[in-house]
Amino acid sequence: MSLFVNGAQVPAPTDPRVSLLDHLREGLHLTGTKKGCNQGACGACTVLVDGERILSCLALAVQFDGRQITTIEGLASEEGLHPLQAAFIEHDGFQCGYCTPGQICSAIGMAAEAQRGVPSHVTDDLGGTITLTREEIQERMSGNLCRCGAHNGIVEAIQAVLVEGVPA
Ligand code: FES
Ligand code: FES
Repeated sequence: MSLFVNGAQVPAPTDPRVSLLDHLREGLHLTGTKKGCNQGACGACTVLVDGERILSCLALAVQFDGRQITTIEGLASEEGLHPLQAAFIEHDGFQCGYCTPGQICSAIGMAAEAQRGVPSHVTDDLGGTITLTREEIQERMSGNLCRCGAHNGIVEAIQAVLVEGVPA
């Protein structure tokens, strides 16, 4: 099988029972992706697969043959931090930082979902253009918990970058 992480082909797991999260952290030593609950409840393990956010603790690595996986390590470029990473710093979007990689990957996937017109629980007009209001962002990011309570800064950082037009 072919597994691609952050644009490079990487070794596949030898054990087909390994979760994508454990393969990233323990097999590939990409420890930016965090393990919180390991049961789909906290969002700390969120990564992007072909641009869609998934919980890597609930997925087997072998499910992703030929798919492009992006982790927090793949977001910065030669030019510097990803705009969302910079905005999290500017807007105090973290304290301990444990949830932050998942928050940022989730926000990128969330913005793409809104652009595709995928409604959330608080979307009024199911056929219209979705504006990422504070309420929409709070709802759409509700699967990413922050035990430090940095949610206000997290929402502000996301608004600053994704709503005010800096590309994700
Ligand atoms: S570690 Fe995956 S959702 Fe908590
Ligand atoms: S910054 Fe500590 S859990 Fe979110």
